[in-house]
Amino acid sequence: MPNNLIGQATATTNPNLAIIKYWGKEDGLDNIPASPSLGIALEELHTVTTASLTRLETGGGDRVFIDGQPQPKRRFTDFFAKFRKLVAEKNPKIGRFIITAESSSNFPNSAGLASSASGFAALALACTDAAKLKLSAKELSALARIGSVSAARSIFGGFVYLGSGAIHADQIHDETWWPDLRIIVVEIEKGMKEISSRAAMERSKRSSPFYQAWISDAKENMDKALVALETRNLGILGPLIRRSYLRMFSTMLSSYPPTVYWKPASLAVIALCERLRFTGLNIWETMDAGPQVKILCLSAEVPLLMKHLIAEFSNLPTRICRVGGMPYLKCND
Ligand code: DP6
Repeated sequence: MPNNLIGQATATTNPNLAIIKYWGKEDGLDNIPASPSLGIALEELHTVTTASLTRLETGGGDRVFIDGQPQPKRRFTDFFAKFRKLVAEKNPKIGRFIITAESSSNFPNSAGLASSASGFAALALACTDAAKLKLSAKELSALARIGSVSAARSIFGGFVYLGSGAIHADQIHDETWWPDLRIIVVEIEKGMKEISSRAAMERSKRSSPFYQAWISDAKENMDKALVALETRNLGILGPLIRRSYLRMFSTMLSSYPPTVYWKPASLAVIALCERLRFTGLNIWETMDAGPQVKILCLSAEVPLLMKHLIAEFSNLPTRICRVGGMPYLKCND
């Protein structure tokens, strides 16, 4: 370990899959969501991030590596500025420091699998632990949000709510709430998306005639989804999940220039879900800013769904996920 090390910590987080989507930010504020979201931690997917704080002695700057690759600084500027402000308030004796963060995930990065959610949540946890800051989960969630809105949800396990205009997320239920709920992640393509979710949602806001309708409809959809979650009723929740992602995508397809994350294989998997629903299966797909398809169902229906997925899409990797728990930390110094 370098002798100018102030502190080092490692955090492990799950990506948080929105079943009711956030898409769009409030005007001119600090990364505040304009639509409410409801998400689930995905147990089998995780990001591990180690943050090291070293005393600023001879210059040098903050550095972030994902899978060993250096990342563009501008993506982290606001987050690190907010983190330094917290350190100055809560543990000023640390003085000036450099942050080095190394991160890796067991799933593709920037491909619509919520890697920015687990990534910034892990970064918030690791940095604040390395600086010995004692923050509540809500404060951590607010810090993670500066990096990425969906990361505010990844600070918690289980079922997580983030209101429109909110600065932090809240856990509604932990991972034990719905033990037989499963999320099948169908990986359509590994490659990085061509346009970031941040740029795509800004484009929707700026140019889609449906954007305002999306925002005004979101609250009603969320209210119904929260009721369905309380009774663990997938038959009621499912159509709301579908409505949320399809309406979110309607703002992308109708923006200028249009944003199209879907690939032919994404549509083929959606079509399979639709067919299986007609035969009585209670399965509901959703998608994010990328081509991957995630399917919610109950554990009893997994074997039949997997049989169809393997028969029709043997080339597509799939992962069966449970609802994940809280992130965890390892202090390294
Ligand atoms: C479609 O949280 O990645 O996954 O706040 O600009 O970093 P930024 O965007 P991000 O957007 C996630 C969008 C989504 C829906 C969701 O997770 O709620």
